[in-house]
Amino acid sequence: MQEKGISLAVIQRLPRYYRYLGELLENDVVRISSKELSERMKVTASQIRQDLNNFGGFGQQGYGYNVEYLYTEIGKILGLDKQYNVIIIGAGNLGQALANYTDFERRGFTITGIFDVNPRLEGISIRGIEIRMLDELENFIKNNTVHIAALTIPKLKAPNVAKELVRMGIKAIWNFAPIDLNLPNDVMVENVHLAESLMRLSYNLKALEESNENNKK
Ligand code: NAI
Repeated sequence: MQEKGISLAVIQRLPRYYRYLGELLENDVVRISSKELSERMKVTASQIRQDLNNFGGFGQQGYGYNVEYLYTEIGKILGLDKQYNVIIIGAGNLGQALANYTDFERRGFTITGIFDVNPRLEGISIRGIEIRMLDELENFIKNNTVHIAALTIPKLKAPNVAKELVRMGIKAIWNFAPIDLNLPNDVMVENVHLAESLMRLSYNLKALEESNENNKK
């Protein structure tokens, strides 16, 4: 399978294909044409064909796509056939919500540690994972394989904690703190900002309202 030179736009669409294909699999759908997939996903059939052709094309003329095969291959491209250990730094509202969410495990992401600085949280367990104090972090990382650190701490604390994580050998940070982290190029940072997504929604809502107003005139 050829994966070189795939555009970022395609890569960003893959999780959505993966989710739809997963739903099809749960409903025992064995194969699907690009037309049917396009109707479900509200993406043009030609876009789907183009996107999936990037990987040498999993479809067959007149047969469509084998759902399980496509799901597995996209999973491999996204690295989901592997297991990742994730630690959460910051056991407040968001950190605890992430720790309580069981679906990440189904995707191969296991939460193995939760850290905070608030002594009142020490020893409390979330789904069997004990909250530890931040001063135990370095030893924990030395003694356990950690692939990803989620940062759910106040934004002003995030840059320093991120630097510390990198010094301890962490190469992938899932950053929820609303601040840009300035880290070496070989460290991957994925920012998740719900507020930015809300702003996009607000923009689209505003555009819709304006177009309705204009239609009334
Ligand atoms: P929270 O106040 O409930 O939790 C923050 C936790 O971090 C507390 O338990 C605190 O003791 C701990 N903490 C503080 N300094 C620390 C350090 N140096 N090391 C380890 N733990 C430390 O706050 P909440 O609501 O959980 O939000 C956490 C962060 O996530 C904030 O930066 C917030 O802005 C952000 N956030 C981001 C969202 C997003 O869409 N990306 C959505 C909601 C919150």
